[in-house]
Amino acid sequence: MNLLTAQDIAHTFEYELFRDVNIELNSGESIAIIGMSGSGKSTLLHLLSTLLTPSEGSVLLFGEDVSSMSKKRLSSIKRHDLGLIFQSHYLFNGFSAYENLEVAELLSGEKIEDDLLEALHIKEPIHQKVTELSGGQQQRVSIARVLTKKPRIIFADEPTGNLDKKTADEVMSLFFEYCKEHDAGMILVTHDNELAHQCDKVFHLEDKKLQRIK
Ligand SMILES: Nc1ncnc2c1ncn2[C@@H]1O[C@H](COP(=O)(O)OP(=O)(O)O)[C@@H](O)[C@H]1O
Ligand SMILES: [Mg+2]
Repeated sequence: MNLLTAQDIAHTFEYELFRDVNIELNSGESIAIIGMSGSGKSTLLHLLSTLLTPSEGSVLLFGEDVSSMSKKRLSSIKRHDLGLIFQSHYLFNGFSAYENLEVAELLSGEKIEDDLLEALHIKEPIHQKVTELSGGQQQRVSIARVLTKKPRIIFADEPTGNLDKKTADEVMSLFFEYCKEHDAGMILVTHDNELAHQCDKVFHLEDKKLQRIK
């Protein structure tokens, strides 16, 4: 089943970042986007995840054009179906890790799963305040928060950037397993070539074009 289609997307801020971008994500599939710093990878992820509107072209989610969705429909999709994991974690700092997960539970109507906390090694510090946790622990709490809502698409921008190699590998395996188990899709921005090639498809953003290399 098709989860996301980007058709002939172009985007310009001060200057044109890229054009003629086409992507198709199907359920159970993972896509990696690689490219040099400044090539527009994060911007592209923002366009695909509806945080930004493309200058040209369209994004379809679950077969529906985002630009013609009602506000209500779009916010429901964002709440239930899209999981965004970016470099900075956007956790609520005054609250405990667990309270942050409860927010996701409340918004999505899904349950926090013990197995998930165990897999991410955050079961022990789960009742500590976010500010008391290490950067890597905070990152893993934010990943738990996103997976708690059981999204149909995961958008991840360098999600393992501040994790050590072993933890990063564990987190990535968790993402891949999640996609298989839930028939979800993932679009991953990374500069790690080896990691990118663990995905089903790999695209390279270079010279304003997105080229498929795997
Ligand atoms: N909010 C913004 N306003 C204006 N220009 C931006 C904005 N975000 C990104 N850019 C421009 O887009 C370029 C690419 O940024 P980005 O998508 O973050 O690249 P990457 O993630 O590949 O490093 C930046 O160098 C900057 O010129
Ligand atoms: Mg970036």
